[in-house]
Amino acid sequence: MKKASLLFFSLVICCATNYYSISQTKKPAAKSKAKSSAAPAKSSSSKAEIEQGKNLISKSDCLACHQVQVKVVGPAYSAVAEKYPSTEANIAKLSEKIIKGGSGVWGPIPMSPHPTIPVADAKKMAKYILSLKSK
Ligand code: HEC
Repeated sequence: MKKASLLFFSLVICCATNYYSISQTKKPAAKSKAKSSAAPAKSSSSKAEIEQGKNLISKSDCLACHQVQVKVVGPAYSAVAEKYPSTEANIAKLSEKIIKGGSGVWGPIPMSPHPTIPVADAKKMAKYILSLKSK
């Protein structure tokens, strides 16, 4: 009996801390969203989006597997930029990959899915990545 209630409590604590950390990590994302809608809609809006994409990437887990110039677990972002021209179609394709994950393009190692990232944010991330061409 005692053992069972101990187990129950540690479960509750575990869930509570998990929830807490999730709600903590969600806050900055919500903040940056508010910022983005306040940003003036210039004709060079993609520059602002690229900057937002960079920020979103630094707040997510991407940099655990990706660097700009060096292949880590995933391909270097500059290599991704070399491979795909920055077109709407490629931005859509890569943002879908960011959300759904997958493997087979750069090797057998799969990229983890990110189902909580909104499509609009994933597109900004893709725009930032595709802006990293060295040429
Ligand atoms: C667990 C490690 C890991 C994390 C975390 C990760 N990636 Fe990846 N990523 C990979 C791997 C591995 C590949 C190569 C997949 C393949 O070969 O199809 C990849 C590929 C990509 C590609 C190229 C996709 C293609 O089809 O050419 C983009 C863009 C990308 N990642 C962006 C991101 C972004 C943005 C994030 C953060 C939201 C992120 N990644 C987080 C491992 C990761």
